[in-house]
Amino acid sequence: MIVVLGPGELAGAVASVSPGELVVGAGDDERLAGPPTEAAQIAAVLPLPARACIIGADRTPAEACLAARRAGGALSQARLIVVGEPPVDTMPVAWRGFVERLGATVASDMVEMSAVLAHTATIDGRPSAAERRAMRPGAPEAAAWREALRTASPRRRRLRRRPAVGRPKIAERTLDAVVRRPLTEGCHSVAVISPKGGVGKTLLSFVLGSILAHVRGDRVLAVDTNPDFGTLADLVDVRVPATISDLLRALPDIHSQEELTKFVTITETGLHILAAPQDPGEMGRLGSGGYLAVNDLLRRYYDLVVYDCGTGFLDEITQFALRRADQTVLVSAPQLVTAKIILGAVDYLAVTAFDMRRSTLVLNMVHGDDALDRVRLRSALEHRVGGVVEVPFDGRLQRVIDLGEFRYGKLGPGIRMAVKLLAAEIITRFPQAHQPGTSMAEPHAVAPEQSVYASAG
Ligand SMILES: Nc1ncnc2c1ncn2[C@@H]1O[C@H](COP(=O)(O)OP(=O)(O)OP(=O)(O)O)[C@@H](O)[C@H]1O
Ligand SMILES: [Mg+2]
Repeated sequence: MIVVLGPGELAGAVASVSPGELVVGAGDDERLAGPPTEAAQIAAVLPLPARACIIGADRTPAEACLAARRAGGALSQARLIVVGEPPVDTMPVAWRGFVERLGATVASDMVEMSAVLAHTATIDGRPSAAERRAMRPGAPEAAAWREALRTASPRRRRLRRRPAVGRPKIAERTLDAVVRRPLTEGCHSVAVISPKGGVGKTLLSFVLGSILAHVRGDRVLAVDTNPDFGTLADLVDVRVPATISDLLRALPDIHSQEELTKFVTITETGLHILAAPQDPGEMGRLGSGGYLAVNDLLRRYYDLVVYDCGTGFLDEITQFALRRADQTVLVSAPQLVTAKIILGAVDYLAVTAFDMRRSTLVLNMVHGDDALDRVRLRSALEHRVGGVVEVPFDGRLQRVIDLGEFRYGKLGPGIRMAVKLLAAEIITRFPQAHQPGTSMAEPHAVAPEQSVYASAG
């Protein structure tokens, strides 16, 4: 049996190139053309095992593949095949890599799909006896799977319900366990970047750093690498006046964490913050030699460093942070109008040899009414990056953070869970330490390049 998750035309096309095969698709139940999670769960109740599950490339293949894997049942042995051309802006090779990382096979058209199917074994290479019986008109077996589909209907309403904005369907303690995973020794770093101003880079650097420090208990530092009037250190009510330039001047005298600590603001979660000088000229004068010297020192004393970058990628310090960072968080507003500029940023980063699988796209300040934009943004971008996380707009947080009155305990559950999800995405992409008594594979609940969000959704 072949199951098609996608529109009726796709199911029809699959049936027409698969003579003698039981093809179940939208013609049998329109919900198989609906949202992937529901479609996969409906298909999973079929009483015959599917040898293949066909997914349209124009759907959200990441969601569909993961939903099919999670649904199990009739789909548990199915080979996943994503059929269709890659999105317009995506190179075929990048598309193939993306689909393969989802555990699926790419077929650009029906001919390729038939070739893949020809190499996808049924038990004996042909439809099983049960499938052949089910294909006979009026056969009780056919009635059985139609009945199975029909009786799946009571779950319909429950399945249709979407998760609240930015609130992943995953237990907080599960996320905490991922965030706490031990990493290999040494300093790991992430640069928070965006081609757009005011999208929340600084707020996210701060909240992300706070969560990493609070949950992991590691030595975590957030560095203001904004070349123009960085605001990171102003998010706390009492800050030390020292900045990166002061630290650079004092560098030869710093030989311990204690001496270094005089130059950073320590926040209630244990997150340290290193401020940028307010004068952009002074920041510019540090030059790459200065950043390098400071950075080398910081790497000796911290386990995790978050760089809060300025807008754009071309200034010297952002270039420095991009070269030094192990991964990036690319922040976007959730509106479709920003898609072009973010696509341009992804192209730029990919061309500058940054491995985009080590980048997490954040759609920040998500509201309930931008759902359609977000779906489109995700489908345009999710195969170009390692993962996508949505962070809700939180007016209360904005007020307290802008007044310097942030308290970790007062962080609302929506934004806390969303940023924990981001932290989990990031942690899974760093090299994991081997824990005694476990296999190397065990520390990964998900593959390092696979989105935690996707597997949580
Ligand atoms: N998820 C959110 N919910 C509510 N307010 C937010 C959120 N994210 C950011 N903000 C608010 O949006 C404004 C801009 O955020 P922020 O300063 O972090 O942006 P930025 O990208 O660092 O800007 P710049 O390009 O100037 O450095 C701030 O008032 C901040 O508190
Ligand atoms: Mg900023």
